[in-house]
This record gives sequence, structure tokens and C-alpha cells, in this order.
Amino acid sequence: MSELQTIAYEPSRLDGVLWLFDRVYGEAPSREEFAWWFDRNPVGPRTVFLADDGGHVAGVLGASFYRAVVAGRETLAALPLWAVTDPDYRGRGIFQRLNAAVETAARDAGASLELGFTNPQAGPIYVSKLGWSDVHRLRIWARPLAGRGAAPDPHEVGEHEERAYRELAPRLPSHFVRDVAYLRWRYASSPRAYTLVRSANGYAIVGRKRVRGVRAAFVADLVAPTLRETRALLRTCVRAARGARVLLALLPAVHARAYLATGFVPTPETIRLIGHALDGPLPVGPRAWHFTLGDTDYF
Ligand SMILES: CC(C)(COP(=O)(O)OP(=O)(O)OC[C@H]1O[C@@H](n2cnc3c(N)ncnc32)[C@H](O)[C@@H]1OP(=O)(O)O)[C@@H](O)C(=O)NCCC(=O)NCCS
Repeated sequence: MSELQTIAYEPSRLDGVLWLFDRVYGEAPSREEFAWWFDRNPVGPRTVFLADDGGHVAGVLGASFYRAVVAGRETLAALPLWAVTDPDYRGRGIFQRLNAAVETAARDAGASLELGFTNPQAGPIYVSKLGWSDVHRLRIWARPLAGRGAAPDPHEVGEHEERAYRELAPRLPSHFVRDVAYLRWRYASSPRAYTLVRSANGYAIVGRKRVRGVRAAFVADLVAPTLRETRALLRTCVRAARGARVLLALLPAVHARAYLATGFVPTPETIRLIGHALDGPLPVGPRAWHFTLGDTDYF
């Protein structure tokens, strides 16, 4: 058996990486999606590590960086993601070694904590073996759609969005910073299609995705100063979601009542949020963070 090595990803290994995703998930992200996610993140360096077995990619783990306000202080958060180990190589410690490489890279980049929107395969390993903690379970809410109403005018991300975020930020618990550079990368230059809609002092971003075979739309982000404007934006999101059968969202830390008033109901689905303090606090609990579906990598 040849020796497994943990190495930094190079673009020449992309075919091997995509092959492995295809093998495990039955489909691979496009080259464009990979380049967008890992090469163009405006906050931190490309962070992808591979388990190499004599030229064969036996495992992959990447990470993305986010500017974040954590317990009132601005810092850097690292999110390990796109974890995958070749089924023929599982249980040999590949994921744990890749995680150690990502953690070192995160510390080197200045991250004070790691966060993960995890799943039943990776979550238990992080929590029981790698010293991570449960932060909270984020419940997904849903509003059925009837498909009526004229589509709203889409906008381009700009200063308006960052201004709206800066206004709201002091009222939010720990969260990711929404500056123009981040919002442009995450939504405007994404190969996935998002629609940005605006109100006088706020904005919302609607994405689309098949969830369990159902054509769904989702509120990727929504920032508004008042309950009233949040409700108005949600009504616009409903119109922007035309053609989908359901609109999904996480309940925000502020103005959550607007979602209830717009007809959102809780689903049985939750996202397990876990975290790992590197050099600073890791707030935990239901009121510690504000997250939207667009803060995750898979919406
Ligand atoms: C999750 C995944 C990446 C793990 O890869 P791996 O290289 O086999 O993991 P490792 O060998 O480093 O670690 C497995 C360890 O966790 C332990 N473990 C596995 N499942 C566990 C569980 N449910 N609870 C506690 N420990 C668990 C194993 O016993 C093993 O521990 P050991 O080294 O003491 O024997 C792999 O299963 C995978 O590719 N899954 C499909 C893709 C996926 O779901 N990725 C996560 C996306 S967030």
C-alpha cells in the first residue's frame, strides 16, 4: 500500500477532486463553481487540502473565510467545507488529518474561530473526536407558494446593501459581515443564480434550489431596519420566487415576527451548527448568532 500524504491543493489536481465528488455524491460541482468558491473569496486565501495516494485524490477538505462580528468584536471565521473521503479509504484518519491542516491554515490566516454547517457524517467526528462544540440547530422555515404576482425588478449589489447592513449590525448578535466585496462575491459573481430585491432601506436576496425533489426558492439574505420593511421585503421575495413551490428561510435574530406574519411555518429540517474556538470566544445557544441560508455554502 502506498503512503498517504496531506498536501495543499494545486489546480492540476482539479480533475481528481471533481472525480471524487462525483464518486461520493453522484455529481461534482462545476469547474466554475470550484474556482468561484475557492479562488475568489475576498476575505481569505484559497484553502483546500488533499489526501494524496501516489497521485490519486483519496480525500478533500476545503475552508472559506468570513469577516464576522463575534461577541461584539470583528474577527475572521473559517468554515471547513466540501469534506469528502474516497469510500475505499474511509476510517483511516484522512478527514482528521485534513482537518488538522485546515485548522493550521485558519490560525495562520488569523481566524479566531471555526464554524461548520455540518451533516450526520462529519458532525459526530468533529464533536466527539476533534474538540468542536454544538452551537445550535438552525430550523428551516417554509412558506408555500401559489405562484401569483408580477416578478419584481432585480438590482445589482452595491453601497445600498452595505449601508443597510451597517444600520442593522449593532442590533444583531454574532454574525457574518455583509460588506460590498463579500456580497458581490457571494451573490453577484456566483455561478448560481440569485435575485436581489430592494426596499427603501433594506434588501433581500432570493436563490433557488431543488430540495428533496421539490422546486424551492429561499431567502438567502434579508436586511431591513424595521418589522414593516421586513414584511414588505418578504412579500417581494414571494414574488421573486415565482415558479417555486415553497420559499425557505431561517428565522432572523431581529424582526422574526415578520416571517410568521408572512405565512412561514417551521419544517422538521434543521441544520446542525457546530464551532471550534481557536483564539477567542465561541458564543453558543439559540440567541448567540444571526444566520441566513446564504451564510451556508450549500444554499
Ligand atoms: C465524513 C467523512 C469525510 C469522514 O472521512 P474519513 O476519512 O473516513 O474520517 P476519519 O477516518 O478521519 O475519521 C473517522 C473517525 O470518526 C469516527 N466516527 C465515524 N462516525 C462517527 C460517529 N457517528 N460518531 C463518533 N465517531 C465517529 C470513526 O470511528 C473514526 O475514528 P477512529 O479514527 O478513532 O477510528 C467521510 O465519511 C465522507 O466522505 N462522507 C461522505 C461525504 C460527507 O458527508 N462529508 C461531510 C460534509 S459536511
